[in-house]
Amino acid sequence: MKKRVLSGIRATGRLHLGNYFGAVKGMLDLQSRSAEYETFYMVADLHTLTTPHDKETLKQAVRDIIIDYLAVGLNPEKSALFIQSHVPEHLELAYYFSTVATVAKMQHLPTFKDKVKQYPENVTMALLNYPILMASDILVYKAGLVPVGIDQEPHLEVAREIARRMNQDFGMDFPEPKRFIDKSLPAGRQGEYIPSLTGEGKMSKTVEGSYINLTDSLGEIKSKIAKIPTDSGQGSEILGGVKTLMEFVELFEGKEKRNELENQYRGKGLRYGEIKSELSETIFAELEPIQIRRKELETNPEFVDKVIGEGAQKARRVAARTVAEVREKMGLA
Ligand code: TYM
Repeated sequence: MKKRVLSGIRATGRLHLGNYFGAVKGMLDLQSRSAEYETFYMVADLHTLTTPHDKETLKQAVRDIIIDYLAVGLNPEKSALFIQSHVPEHLELAYYFSTVATVAKMQHLPTFKDKVKQYPENVTMALLNYPILMASDILVYKAGLVPVGIDQEPHLEVAREIARRMNQDFGMDFPEPKRFIDKSLPAGRQGEYIPSLTGEGKMSKTVEGSYINLTDSLGEIKSKIAKIPTDSGQGSEILGGVKTLMEFVELFEGKEKRNELENQYRGKGLRYGEIKSELSETIFAELEPIQIRRKELETNPEFVDKVIGEGAQKARRVAARTVAEVREKMGLA
């Protein structure tokens, strides 16, 4: 039997390079191996409700992620592309899972603590339940492989614990889901986060100035890359913004180019203007075909509706079976 794969992205803004390298590239890779893997990719609209959101724009934001999925090359013939809330089985299974997960464990997760710090006015039950719903997203398809960034590892650990408990206590056969690490990334970046353009921490939708969106124009990319903080161009140790710049050079222009520039930094010195301009052009060259496909998709709303409808149907067929099995094993049916 084929192994199942599930991943999801929240509708909190446009996709950026962090999402692209951390999750989307892995999603594409697994989709391309359709003889081995059955792939389910969703927009996590229910998880989007766990932080303050705009109800006027949410629907469009969710649809935009589906369009992004199609534009980057996810193929509805190969992958179920769907919206989480269209498959209510996720919510039902999350409730059953909440009976084997403790409050203490959820409160101690670093991801929960971060969100509490970020939104102290918004410490809701939904936020505490976030990892349980995520475990349900994955296990409702009995998926064993999850292409996500390293920041999601604590949530996968919860999913593995829940799978073990459900298997032990109720005789289920859930796999213990593992993070899929994309091997097409440079060795140093495999399984790591994509850094912020500010030179500190990771690229994130919530940190202004940290990200490049997949929809950014060449001008926008140039101005964002220009702002990566750099120094005089010479020195012995490569740190901060210069290190970030070198990481992007490696991601887009290869290891050799990075080595060459790092040697120059330690020797005769670097001219950042040229390096930044060349890097911006290379980034744009990778994003432009995605942007062209995106524009075409925007003129074909019927196709997007069809993908969303069929994706939900495909997902529900599998999800309903798992939920029926859990109901029975837990003594409800
Ligand atoms: P979200 O929407 O925060 O992020 C989407 C994906 O992008 C990855 N990512 C990064 N990877 C590397 N470097 C970065 N700087 C970077 N920034 C973001 C994230 O790791 C993620 O893979 N909880 C999930 C959504 C979700 C989900 C699921 C994922 C809900 N249910 C079930 C997988 C399976 C999230 O918040 O993603």
